[in-house]
This record gives sequence, structure tokens and C-alpha cells, in this order.
Amino acid sequence: MALATPESILPSIGRHGRVSAKERREFEDAERLLPGGALGGNALPKDLRFVFARGDGARFWDTTGNEYIDYVLGSGTLFLGHAHPTIQAAVADQATRGTHFFAYLNEQAVELARRLKPHMACAERLRFTTSGSDSTFHAIRLARAFTGRNKVLKFEGAYHGVHDYAQLSTAPKQLSNYPAPLPDTAGIPEAVRELMLVAPYNDKDTLASILAEHGHDVAAAIVEPIQRIISPKPGFLEAVRELTLKHGCVMIMDEVVTGFRYGLAGAQGYFGVVPDLATYGKIIGGGLPVGAVAGRADIMDQADPGKKGQADYVYQNGTLQGHPLGCAAGLASLDVLEEPSLYDRVFRQADKLREGLQKVFDRHQMGILMFGEGPMWHMLFTDKVPQNWRDILSSDLKKQAAMEIELIRAGLFVLPQNRRFISIRHTDDDLGATFEAADRACRAFKA
Ligand SMILES: Cc1ncc(COP(=O)(O)O)c(C=O)c1O
Repeated sequence: MALATPESILPSIGRHGRVSAKERREFEDAERLLPGGALGGNALPKDLRFVFARGDGARFWDTTGNEYIDYVLGSGTLFLGHAHPTIQAAVADQATRGTHFFAYLNEQAVELARRLKPHMACAERLRFTTSGSDSTFHAIRLARAFTGRNKVLKFEGAYHGVHDYAQLSTAPKQLSNYPAPLPDTAGIPEAVRELMLVAPYNDKDTLASILAEHGHDVAAAIVEPIQRIISPKPGFLEAVRELTLKHGCVMIMDEVVTGFRYGLAGAQGYFGVVPDLATYGKIIGGGLPVGAVAGRADIMDQADPGKKGQADYVYQNGTLQGHPLGCAAGLASLDVLEEPSLYDRVFRQADKLREGLQKVFDRHQMGILMFGEGPMWHMLFTDKVPQNWRDILSSDLKKQAAMEIELIRAGLFVLPQNRRFISIRHTDDDLGATFEAADRACRAFKA
């Protein structure tokens, strides 16, 4: 008969079967009230799911009281970790003075625009939105209006949010011939598919040939500078820049993930490529819902409400945009991010994490490759760093899914099949606990 593991020798992080009556009730309520008992598009297996109760730094606790180390970090919004004291203070202070005033002007929004702009190389103007999806949607509309063209080119495997133009070929299970896109969700009209073109990431020749044929119809090419977990090959982003200029298309750099993560200047500074428009979300709101579109004045000024009624006016609006609480959190984040050497420290910590995990996996001869650049990391059962979506598909994704479950079980929160983040608050202690947990996960995987 198997004996239950005594509580005293259970690892301190992870669920290990501990579920309180309160958390059980929360699961039951969620299942009854929310489709799939979930808040969004990700669900964990029943024995692994949890209800977040509170977070602090790199760690969070579920309502049972179990502790985890967080590598999802609010899908990358929490670069400053959970409950950063500077953000807490700024939000609490703003909340005493009013939480929202609608999209005319408020002090915090104007100040945030003033503080963000010098860091955004392409920004002659910027407009706030409330999410990354909102930002990419509006950037596409601005580009269509500016060029008078309808089609938009994206890259296979890239994610730009939830709207119909974005939910095409983000993670296709089967492959179609370029440039035909495949929908990632039901509910996308055929007519939308006809407006989108898909190209392989990191392949400038195929991009050049697609644009040679369709460029005259293409309003914009939208690119994630680091596509999910894949770094650009030297010269690739430069080629996107050159080819979009050549064909008169707007280049949209989707900096929702990279913005303020790869340095204050984001991917534009990190790679030295300046697009016409850039889209932001995640870090700029310090964990609250703030996004932005930034870019050339002649494109952005189409959204000047003074032009309402004119044929070239572009409607860009949202009830919650320029939200003072979010902008206060964004300003507080910038105070922290502008500290000298902060980025050097987080980049070094991410290197340590990748090296340490690689050592654990090698010790167990797992056949896992750790990779990633700066404060994002990933692992695949493969022996070569992927350069495009098809490389990821050719790694062992079955083993990957099984290992990810063991990592979560061991107390490391990672989003299955997705990139992982690290925050400025992941300490050496957190990394040490991570390596121990990864060691347990490897043993469980092999058992
Ligand atoms: C590159 C990129 N663009 C856009 C989005 C959409 O952002 P949101 O989820 O805030 O709508 C995401 C979300 O993860 C993203 O990673």
C-alpha cells in the first residue's frame, strides 16, 4: 500500500495534491460560471490548476497557500514582478483621486506619453489603447487608411492578439503554402482570410518574392521582432524594413512583448531597426491594462479627432484608453526601469537561469535545448535553436507537453507551449529553487 508523503518532507513549492476546501469550491464555481472554468485561452489539466491568491516578487500563492515560482508573470506584463512597492504606491495614490475620466486628457496620460516617447525610436506621436490586441488592430487600420490598400502580411507563428486579422497562422498544426493563411479559431470570415498574407519568419527571400507579387496591394507588414521565442537572423528585420520601404507598405513592429523588456528602447533599440509604427502593451502599463500605438506623425495624425467627417479620418478610440490608474502604474514602472544597470542585471540573471537549467537537463540526459535571448527563455526537445515555426513543429512536442506538466507540478509556473519570462525580481534564491524543482521534474518525467 502506498503511504502518503508526510507533509514535512514535501517540497516547499508546488501543489503536491494540497487543495483546500475553499479552492475546491472556487474550481466548482468557475466550472459552472466560466466556459471551461477558465478566464482565457489557456487551461491546465485538472490536477494542476490553481486559483491565484496573491503574488510577491517572483513568487505567487494559490488560495490553498501553495507557493510557485512564476515564469508566466501575467503573460509578460510583470517585468517588475508581483506587487512591486513603487507600483502599489502609485496606484493607491491615484485611486484616491479618481479612477477614470475617459479619453479626453488626464495628467497621468499626458505625463506617460511624455516619458515614453523618447524611448520609442519611431514615435513622433503615440496613442494609448487598452491592450496589445487593441494596438495591433488600430495600427493595421491606420496603415490601411494611409496606403489605401487592403492586404496585410504577417509571419507564420507570430501572435498579434485576438482580432480576426491576427488569429491567422499563429500556431498552425498543419502547414499551408505561403502566402495563404490558416485560421486559428472558428468564426473568422473567409473574406478576412483573403485580406491576409503569411510569410515564413527569418526568410527574407520568400518575403521578397511574396511582396514582389502582392506588394502593390499590401498596406502593412506586421512583425514580432523576436517572434515568440525565435530570434531574428542577422539582417532579417533590416530586410523587412527595406522591402516594406521598397513596396510602399507600412512596417509595423509589434513590440507588445519586446517593448521596455529588451532595454528602454525595446527591440527598435536592441536591433537598430526603426519601423513606421510600433505597437505596445504588457510592460508599459506596469501590470494594468495599457497599450499604445506609436509612429510617424503623418500616419498617426489620421486619428486626429479634429478631422472627424473627413474621408481620411481614422477612428481610434476606447472607453478605457489613457486610463489614469494604468498610466500611474506605467509612470511608476518607468521610474524603476530607468534605474542604471537594471537591464544588465536582468539579462545576466536570465543567462544564469538558462545555463543552470541546461545543466540540470544535461545531467539527466533529457535531450532538451535551452535557448532564448535576454529576459525570455524557452526549452525544446531538439538539438538546434529554431529559426521559424516549422522548426518548432519538428521538435518533440509530445515530450515537451509531458515535461511542462512536470515542471508545473514541481512548482515552476510555465505556460505550456509558450515562451517564458523572467522579472527583475528573480533572485539567486529563486533560481536555486528553480534548479531544484527542475531536477525533481526530470526525475518524475523519467519515472
Ligand atoms: C506580440 C504580441 N502582440 C499582441 C499581443 C496581444 O496582446 P493582448 O493580449 O494584450 O491583447 C500579444 C499577447 O501576448 C503579443 O505577445
